[in-house]
Amino acid sequence: MSNSIFAKDGTAQGVAKQRLIETIAGPDKRVINDPYASHFIMGAGLMKLMGHRLNSWLAKKLAPGFHEHIISRTRFLDDLIEKSAEEGVEQYVILGAGYDSRAHRLALPSSLNIFEVDQPEVQSRKLNKLPKELSNSENITYVSVDFAHQSLTERLLNAGFDQTKSTIFTLEGVTQYITKEAFNMTMKEIAMLSREANSIFFLSYVNELLNTNPKDCFGMGYKNPEKKAKLIKNLSAKAGEPWISFYSAEEIESVLSQNGYSIKENVNFEDLNLLYFKSVGRTLPENQIFKLEHFVTAKS
Ligand SMILES: C[S@@+](CC[C@H](N)C(=O)[O-])C[C@H]1O[C@@H](n2cnc3c(N)ncnc32)[C@H](O)[C@@H]1O
Repeated sequence: MSNSIFAKDGTAQGVAKQRLIETIAGPDKRVINDPYASHFIMGAGLMKLMGHRLNSWLAKKLAPGFHEHIISRTRFLDDLIEKSAEEGVEQYVILGAGYDSRAHRLALPSSLNIFEVDQPEVQSRKLNKLPKELSNSENITYVSVDFAHQSLTERLLNAGFDQTKSTIFTLEGVTQYITKEAFNMTMKEIAMLSREANSIFFLSYVNELLNTNPKDCFGMGYKNPEKKAKLIKNLSAKAGEPWISFYSAEEIESVLSQNGYSIKENVNFEDLNLLYFKSVGRTLPENQIFKLEHFVTAKS
């Protein structure tokens, strides 16, 4: 049993916290906008009072580049979801949704059927905290699944998932928290669920080099990479959700191809730094690059 103060939602709050910090930077300085993040975070009022600069400074003290890496992941997925919706994808399954609010904050067509999947404890807290007018949105269905013990297929089909419709599945910031066995099983279920229609699959994973050669997971000149790697893992464990699974690019490619998916893109913050942060004057230098997590897009 975990000693954490969080009820299985420590890391979901942690990511939402970064989205709040980014949002309060203001319209001309921010890379993403999440007006709902503050609903889910302990201490959100104080963070707003402190403002973007002080919060960013504190995040940088903890680990330079950590905040920007999370925000680049959010923006990468925002762009992918908007583009997929424009191209006519019919269903969107958010696996391990946590306090992700894309279903509400992006301008998505109301015809897009969205399924939010997460552990029951996290989902019920999310529904309690969401503004009332949003928690009843007709095109969003909440499906509680614990990937470690429950069948995604049965739950999604019971919730109205249509196997003949094109779908985008996303698994953002989750693979490090579940066993490789649970990840493999989830991939198999996704492959079965989407065998009759086109699908896109996004996942993020933590590079196994973080354990064997942490220096390679940061930019050249990054201070104390071994210490920072340890700190990040310790913080997650303290929140009650230790990082237990790490992958190589080959391993991810193999799991995806065994399940009928081919990789279209595999990027990390190093690739996205200029793309997203230059226009707001916040590009990070090489010695603050945090590239331990990869963002992969694949197609069936
Ligand atoms: C770091 S959070 C990411 C949340 C969200 N995807 C985001 O990026 O804001 C990890 C999420 O994975 C979910 N998760 C972890 N283990 C899980 C499991 N065994 N079954 C279902 N969800 C799980 C957590 O509840 C949490 O919401």
